[in-house]
Amino acid sequence: MKIIVLEGSPHKNGSSNMLAGQFIKGAEDAGHTVSILDVAHMDMHPCMGCGHCGMNGECVYTDGNASIRDALLGADMVVFVTPIYYFGMSAQLKMVIDRFYSYTIKLSAKGLKSALITASWDSDADVMPYTAEHYKKLCKYMNFTNCGMVLGTGCGSPEMTKDSVHMQEAYNFGKSL
Ligand SMILES: Cc1cc2nc3c(=O)[nH]c(=O)nc-3n(C[C@H](O)[C@H](O)[C@H](O)COP(=O)(O)O)c2cc1C
Repeated sequence: MKIIVLEGSPHKNGSSNMLAGQFIKGAEDAGHTVSILDVAHMDMHPCMGCGHCGMNGECVYTDGNASIRDALLGADMVVFVTPIYYFGMSAQLKMVIDRFYSYTIKLSAKGLKSALITASWDSDADVMPYTAEHYKKLCKYMNFTNCGMVLGTGCGSPEMTKDSVHMQEAYNFGKSL
């Protein structure tokens, strides 16, 4: 499979990207081809809802969105990677998802496989369900098949993440694909 990993953290070497790195190792060990898009550091604008694209056309912005679109339309799987910010995904990742608008019809027609990888400081059960539910609803709407989630609670810093059970979990998940 061709897998595109969308990394949505401002921390290039942060916790969510560490978990994504383990996932990628596992997926590559299983023979898949993985490409990382560090979308948090790409030139991106938030969707302004102008409707020019009609959900199936050119966006008025000429920024990183076109390369994300082309990568996803040529892929078999998308992996969303994000730190937890106030019980949701980062604005950087959400901006990419909102910009799906101009190619929603094409993207949903592909029937991609998908996964979610998150990192939060807190380790209690109440930190992840909001992001997980949002992701699951997005999968339904976009016709993605959810292959799984690594919900990295207690991964508040690289030091915490390094010793977390979620590192192995992320590797195993990638390897299982
Ligand atoms: C703006 C902001 C909001 C945050 N909100 C939460 C939160 O709601 N719950 C939580 O457990 N951690 C929260 N955190 C902590 C991060 O999720 C945590 O440090 C995570 O490891 C960062 O991942 P990263 O290194 O991949 O960016 C927040 C951090 C920031 C900067």
